[in-house]
Amino acid sequence: MSVDRTACPGQPSVPPGEGMLTHSRALRFWLDPANLAARREQAGPVVPTRTGPATAFQVNDPALLRKIGTDEDTFRFWGPDPSLRDFTEDGVVGLEGAAHRKRRAVMRPAFSASRLTTLGPAAQARTRRLLAGLPADRPLDMRMEMSRLACGLLVSCVLNSELAPDTLSRIASARSTLSSGMFWRYALAPWPWVPVPRRRACRRALAELDEAVRQLLARHQPHPDGRDLVSVLEAATPENPRVVQRDVRALLIAGMETSASTLAWACYELGRHPHYQQALRDEADAAPDPSRLHADQLPLATAFVQEVTRLHGIPFLVRRTRHQTVQGGVRIPAGAVVTLPLGALRRDRDRYRDPDAFDPKRWLPHAEPPPAPTALLAYGLGPRYCPGAAAADAMLPVALATLAGSRTLRPARPNRKIGMSLELTPTPKGLTMYATPR
Ligand code: HEM
Repeated sequence: MSVDRTACPGQPSVPPGEGMLTHSRALRFWLDPANLAARREQAGPVVPTRTGPATAFQVNDPALLRKIGTDEDTFRFWGPDPSLRDFTEDGVVGLEGAAHRKRRAVMRPAFSASRLTTLGPAAQARTRRLLAGLPADRPLDMRMEMSRLACGLLVSCVLNSELAPDTLSRIASARSTLSSGMFWRYALAPWPWVPVPRRRACRRALAELDEAVRQLLARHQPHPDGRDLVSVLEAATPENPRVVQRDVRALLIAGMETSASTLAWACYELGRHPHYQQALRDEADAAPDPSRLHADQLPLATAFVQEVTRLHGIPFLVRRTRHQTVQGGVRIPAGAVVTLPLGALRRDRDRYRDPDAFDPKRWLPHAEPPPAPTALLAYGLGPRYCPGAAAADAMLPVALATLAGSRTLRPARPNRKIGMSLELTPTPKGLTMYATPR
């Protein structure tokens, strides 16, 4: 289908300064494209950086970044890190090498193209149901509401189950606690004497999530072909239900975290650029069957999600060296954290025209200059490439179009500065909005 590009001229419809973002010093460092260009010239492709007691090694050369991101012999992915055992033990995220590859292969049929075709309409129906209960008369904490929506989408569309609304709300509030707990546990691991914030709250949140996973597995509705995600996991380890439980937990943590932050940042941008709300509605109304939306019928919604990822997606990936190594001429000791600054790559002037502007149109088909989606690395790279990528691509544009179609979003406190949470995936802190039914 074609999109009327004049419907979204891309002019900021809020006065300058409104809805401004505040970044912590560390995030500014990782988001700054200057680190990729100028610093590479001044300091080389790998720059040791001090953050508190830690020295992390920032990889500023895009080619080296790809090499390090895929090399699991020298660099350990965060999942199997001993500091995160409580969270990842026995699940796919905590496995390495052949065991990890085997578990990933088990999941593959559940994400095949033929299965994904049903995800759009399922995400639309689920989003509608979840939005039906949203209060219209008071400001909503969008971080929380989008966590609930992301969790509901995952549970019903990807894991073929259901959870009671109050359980969804409990997991949504557990998400932020778990995410920041994991972040600090990992970051402070080399200094066991430094207290990790909110340890007890994190244990409670994990117990909450485990209880939800038990309910989810008990209510699982297998697809008749037996190839839905939970069914393939159960068939692979019939003798060990704990492994399935841990895999589902890992999928929930990883999938909810990233999808919730994408949707929350999308709301932030819809508030700043309200003309896109109408443009998204028009696009969905023009679909062949507006009651059964598919992402490939929604180029603007897809482009909107991609632009949200470019400006607000996971700012950096982390790895830890297994042993001492030399990269880009720099000696990196064993056990050091290496950061891969995707955020800076995505604001690189050499890749994107006017990189700080929010402009979904740059991702539309036939955009000039053509977009460079590979530079986004939205779903990571190498053996840890996101297994849920295709599912997210199928669900999130539809969820966004459905949200814009049923509610009008408006910042509750337009002049309030929005912060970024220090979590696995930063989410907008302090983003409250009215969601008025249309
Ligand atoms: C917008 C949505 C999403 C984004 C941006 C995203 C991004 C990513 C990225 C960047 C990684 C690799 C991290 C690294 O290398 O350090 C990853 C891994 C992972 N993602 Fe996603 N993801 C999304 C949605 C999902 C969904 C919906 C699921 C579940 C159905 C999921 C499950 C996972 C899992 C389990 C891993 C770990 C893979 C492994 O250890 O082999 N993600 N994701």
